[in-house]
Amino acid sequence: MTTYENIQVETKGRVGIVRLNRPKALNALCAALIVDLGHALDAFEADPGVGCIVLTGSDKAFAAGADIKEMKEKSYQDVFLQDFITVGWEKVSQVRKPIVAAVAGYALGGGCEMAMMCDFIIAADNARFGQPEITLGTIPGAGGTQRLPRFIGKAKAMDLVLTGRMMDAAEAERCGLVSRIVPLDKLMDEAIAAAEKIASMSLPATMVAKEAVNQAFETPLATGIRFERRTFHATFAFDDRVEGMNAFADKRKAAWKHR
Ligand code: CAA
Repeated sequence: MTTYENIQVETKGRVGIVRLNRPKALNALCAALIVDLGHALDAFEADPGVGCIVLTGSDKAFAAGADIKEMKEKSYQDVFLQDFITVGWEKVSQVRKPIVAAVAGYALGGGCEMAMMCDFIIAADNARFGQPEITLGTIPGAGGTQRLPRFIGKAKAMDLVLTGRMMDAAEAERCGLVSRIVPLDKLMDEAIAAAEKIASMSLPATMVAKEAVNQAFETPLATGIRFERRTFHATFAFDDRVEGMNAFADKRKAAWKHR
């Protein structure tokens, strides 16, 4: 398996795990890390042995945001010409296989935004979420002003974006940002078990299910329902759909062809 400077990668069964690994900077998301992450995600996407990905950080920080020290010298021309944030970062939201964020400690700024680019977030009880960019004289730049209100509503999103305050795991679960909270020492077991469960399904089915749910954030309801209906119809072309329904009728476990 390729080794990287700013991340660690491994597979467990059919689960591909990416661990952000810049402990001295609380996993601040520097350009080199974003390049490493892109390569690792591409490799897992291309690997037929991987059915689900887990993105995680350390016990102390999922990621404390974009790298402020790297960012602070950039001019307007720099960020515009580089299309800063778009290039590389968007990869996480474009991964077609399911991707679960396992968040412990700080998930701030770009860290919170990166977690939101994943399909769902499992949080350790010490997780802290926030968009503190306002305290730096700027605003969230990796989707925070758009994904946060869609996920947790305007009141809570405005509160976080305008005050820059952090919320703990319990508040994040209450407002729907995270799907479950687990004790810190159980975080990876829980995230890997969830990812293994997903990876045990038919891969094309999990991929279109993800795509369909994501449409809910892109379209008016009627258009989204139409997309869902057509995609549901399209699953009837999957040989795994035939297998899944036959296995149910035969009272046996489905033997997926595409995993
Ligand atoms: N960028 C660069 N370095 C960072 C960093 C960041 N986002 N966050 C932490 N670090 C570094 C610190 O500078 C420090 O390095 P040194 O030891 O060399 O001084 C090291 O990580 C440890 O950090 P602290 O000493 O500050 O640790 P702490 O436990 O006292 O505080 C913290 C933790 C509250 C998370 C604090 O580090 C902090 O506020 N970090 C910045 C959070 C932030 O503002 N994030 C938003 C970034 S902007 C952004 O993300 C834009 C966007 O939308 C894409």
